Amino acid sequence: MKKWLLAAGVLMPFFSAQATQDPEAMYNRACVACHAGQLPMAPKPGDRAVWAPRLSQGMDTLVQHVTQGFKAMPPRGLCMDCSSEDYRAIIQWMSE
Ligand code: HEC
Repeated sequence: MKKWLLAAGVLMPFFSAQATQDPEAMYNRACVACHAGQLPMAPKPGDRAVWAPRLSQGMDTLVQHVTQGFKAMPPRGLCMDCSSEDYRAIIQWMSE
């Protein structure tokens, strides 16, 4: 797992030259603290079944929830320099 993350960290910049910030890197910096299974309510990346009902609220609502905080999630998801576009990209990445 660690090795894979390291490899992804090294290779990612080549694949995401068009993005201002890489969603996976942002996730690993901020959202991973809760969204990797530590908090059972926080949907994990790649868990489509859990993401489906969340996504059905619409991307705008999800972005708003992260920005303003949602239940146990603190405002901005602890990513102080993430923009709405960044949240959109992270949510897209997490729900695939
Ligand atoms: C301190 C812990 C914590 C951090 C950090 C955190 N989250 Fe969350 N997040 C949660 C929890 C807990 C929930 C589930 C809330 C619930 O439905 O009870 C959640 C839910 C969500 C949801 C679904 C909201 C909805 O309306 O269903 C999205 C989207 C989300 N998080 C995105 C993010 C993103 C993006 C980041 C990083 C920028 C992030 N979170 C960082 C704890 C966190």
